[in-house]
Amino acid sequence: MNIAVFPGSFDPVTLGHMDLIRRAAGIFDRVYVCAMVNSGKTPMFTKEQRFAMLSAAVAELPNVTAEVWTGLLADYAAEKGARYLIKGVRNGTDFDTELGMAQINRALDATLDTVLLPARTEFLHVSSTMVREMVKYGRPLAPYVPAAAIEQMKGWKDNGES
Ligand code: PNS
Repeated sequence: MNIAVFPGSFDPVTLGHMDLIRRAAGIFDRVYVCAMVNSGKTPMFTKEQRFAMLSAAVAELPNVTAEVWTGLLADYAAEKGARYLIKGVRNGTDFDTELGMAQINRALDATLDTVLLPARTEFLHVSSTMVREMVKYGRPLAPYVPAAAIEQMKGWKDNGES
């Protein structure tokens, strides 16, 4: 059984993520999508909120499971018996970042391979960063965020606002 992990901050999950997750679910037998900690970022949503949105968004995908993890990605993958990490790339900057992370994860666990999926053209401009701006300025989220995640978000207060 080919098991893969699709890690990310998912702050919040976007339609771009969902396209990549669906494609990964078509390639691998089981995919664990996991909301993790990126030590270079201060999230808008708590890990519980990020997990709740992610979990609701992937509920319709039978071979996809959402989880949350605060440790190393390589340790999570080992716990799941996964030999593949899936990452999406939109541009050269993403590629450079992911290449570096792939090398770190490979150094941590020599059995781990990273599979890079190119983002589809219609999602090239979609990012969690821009969605957080839309949240901050009260703009519609439906063009960028899965409906199930928007439902979860209703009523939550922006952590970044006083
Ligand atoms: O969506 P992001 O912010 O690009 O995802 C980055 C993430 C969370 C996958 C990365 O920061 C990560 O793997 N965090 C877990 C901690 C870890 O394993 N760090 C070493 C690998 S660089």
